[in-house]
Amino acid sequence: MTDTKRLPKKTRTTAAVLLASVLSISLIPVVQSQLMFRNTVTGDVLDFSFGKKGKETEAVKHFKNTGENLYNEDEEAIHNGESLFMTACSGCHGHHAEGKLGPALGDDYYTYPKNATDKGLFETIYGGARSMMGPQYNNLTIDEMLEIMAWIRSVYWGDPEKAEWLSEEQKANFTPAPIPDDYKEALENFKK
Ligand code: HEC
Repeated sequence: MTDTKRLPKKTRTTAAVLLASVLSISLIPVVQSQLMFRNTVTGDVLDFSFGKKGKETEAVKHFKNTGENLYNEDEEAIHNGESLFMTACSGCHGHHAEGKLGPALGDDYYTYPKNATDKGLFETIYGGARSMMGPQYNNLTIDEMLEIMAWIRSVYWGDPEKAEWLSEEQKANFTPAPIPDDYKEALENFKK
């Protein structure tokens, strides 16, 4: 350690300026901090440094900072999300999100209540849940997950009041999607 008191004044000032700039540089990421995302089951903080690499799109940046999905109600994103869902999720959750091996995703009942928020839904998709619900970070980029989420929200047939991803105004104007024909049957099977 250098004893700064013994150094000439000019050097001390320079040292202070240097120290101040180092401090402020290291403080910048803290000021612009992202939300903390956590595994749905373990509560461990999700690490975005590995997994399928994708573009840090505007939607991804915005989501990491706010938990708000810019793709909700974006037709193109919903369209892409639908085809991604058919490949990555429908085998277990059904083609209409009516439920199959895994629960329905378009109703207002959630095993994990936080899935009624977009932040929670993302955490479950990214980090997985129990049994067959494996983490998706190796399969999908974060941008693709946001597209899938937008599609899931677009087929929602539950009570608008329970749709926590909607603002109060959106809830008031929300028309739920039609209930898929196979939902009741899937619900019975899932309970067995
Ligand atoms: C191999 C089968 C399988 C695949 C593929 C799969 N899931 Fe799941 N998923 C499950 C099972 C089983 C559960 C129940 C797990 C639990 O309760 O912990 C589940 C649970 C969920 C939940 C929690 C629902 C709730 O009620 O809280 C969400 C959300 C979800 N999955 C979304 C997805 C999405 C989106 C995809 C595609 C990217 C996907 N899953 C792919 C089997 C699967």
